[in-house]
Amino acid sequence: MTLDLPVTNADAPTKTLPDAQTVTAVTKWTDSLFSFRVTRPASLRFRSGEFVMIGLPGDNGKPILRAYSIASPNWDDELEFYSIIVPDGPLTSRLQHIKPGDQIILRPKPVGTLVLDALLPGKRLWFLATGTGIAPFASLMRDPETYERYEQVIMMHTCRTAEELTYGAQLVQNLRDDPLLSELYGEDFASRLLYYPTTTREETPLMGRITDNLASGKVLADLGLPPIDPAQDRAMICGSLAFNVDVKAVLEGFGMNEGANSDPREFVVEKAFVGEGV
Ligand SMILES: Cc1cc2nc3c(=O)[nH]c(=O)nc-3n(C[C@H](O)[C@H](O)[C@H](O)COP(=O)(O)OP(=O)(O)OC[C@H]3O[C@@H](n4cnc5c(N)ncnc54)[C@H](O)[C@@H]3O)c2cc1C
Ligand SMILES: NC(=O)c1ccc[n+]([C@@H]2O[C@H](COP(=O)([O-])OP(=O)(O)OC[C@H]3O[C@@H](n4cnc5c(N)ncnc54)[C@H](OP(=O)(O)O)[C@@H]3O)[C@@H](O)[C@H]2O)c1
Repeated sequence: MTLDLPVTNADAPTKTLPDAQTVTAVTKWTDSLFSFRVTRPASLRFRSGEFVMIGLPGDNGKPILRAYSIASPNWDDELEFYSIIVPDGPLTSRLQHIKPGDQIILRPKPVGTLVLDALLPGKRLWFLATGTGIAPFASLMRDPETYERYEQVIMMHTCRTAEELTYGAQLVQNLRDDPLLSELYGEDFASRLLYYPTTTREETPLMGRITDNLASGKVLADLGLPPIDPAQDRAMICGSLAFNVDVKAVLEGFGMNEGANSDPREFVVEKAFVGEGV
C-alpha cells in the first residue's frame, strides 16, 4: 500500500506534505503484535520515552491518528514503533498491512511523562510494563543517558503468553550482546540491565502479575535486590488504566510519590492505551 503523500526525510525528492514518513522495515511478532520503522523527520527532536501521533488517511481522506510511544532511542536515525493489532480498530486494522516503501502520517510533536527529567535522581530505575506498554522503555533502555543517571535498570514486563514477550526479550538480549555497551560500561553491563519477564496465562519459568511480584518481594528475592527504598528507587509505569492504578498503589505503599515533568518525584505513569483492552 502506498499513500499519495510525499515524504519529508532529507533524501526524499518531494517535500510538500510535512507529516508523511516512509516505512523502512516491518517485523511481525505475533498474530496481534508487530513493530515497524519509519524515516525520521530531520527536525524531530524528542526525549526517549515520549509519544507522538501517527496514522493513515481514512476512507474519507481525513487522517486516522493515534498516540504511539516512540520505541527507538533519541539517537537513532529512524523511528521505531511497536504496535498491537485491534481487529476492528480504525487505525491498526489498516496499519497492520504496511510494508517498506509505504508512507504513514507522523505529527512531529513529541510529548509524555515517561522521561528521565520527570524523576528525582536515584540508584535503581524500574520500568514496569504490560503488553505494548514496553514501547517507551524500548526507547529508554537503548538510551545511554539512562545508564549514566542510574546504576541499575530493572525491566519488568508482563504479558499473558510467552510469545507476547518476544519483542522485549530480543531487545534486551541485543543490548546485552552489544559490544559498544560492554565497551562503555564494562563486561558487567548485564548486571546493570536486569530483566524480569513474566506471563500470567501460560506456564513459563517466571510467572505472575507485576503488582503481586513487587508487593510480595518475589522479584527482589529472584534478582537479589535490596528492599524498595524511596530514597534510592525510581519507577516508570506503562500499561492499561487498571494496571497503572494498581501499580501506583503498590509503589505508594513503599512510600514513593508520583511526579511529573514540572515536579520530579519517585515515579511517573502513562497509559499504554485508552479503554479496557480489546
Ligand atoms: C500515550 C499513549 C501511547 C500509546 N502508545 C502505543 C504504542 O506504542 N503501541 C500501541 O500499539 N498502542 C499505543 N497506544 C494505543 C494507540 O493510541 C491506539 O489505541 C492503538 O493503536 C489502536 O488503535 P485503533 O484505531 O486500531 O483502535 P482504537 O479505537 O484506538 O482502540 C480500540 C480498543 O483497543 C484497545 N487497545 C488499543 N490499543 C491497545 C494496546 N496498545 N494494547 C491493548 N489494547 C489496546 C482499547 O480497548 C481500545 O479501546 C497508545 C495510547 C496512548 C494514550
Ligand atoms: N483472546 C485472547 O486470547 C487474547 C489474548 C491476548 C489479548 N487479548 C485481548 O487483548 C487485550 C489487550 O491484551 P493485553 O494482554 O495487552 O492487556 P491486558 O489484558 O492488560 O494484560 C496484560 C498483562 O497485564 C496483566 N494485568 C492486567 N491488569 C492488571 C492489573 N490491574 N494489575 C496487574 N497486572 C495486570 C495481565 O495479567 P492477567 O492475565 O492476570 O489479567 C496480563 O499479564 C486484552 O484486554 C484482551 O482482551 C485477548
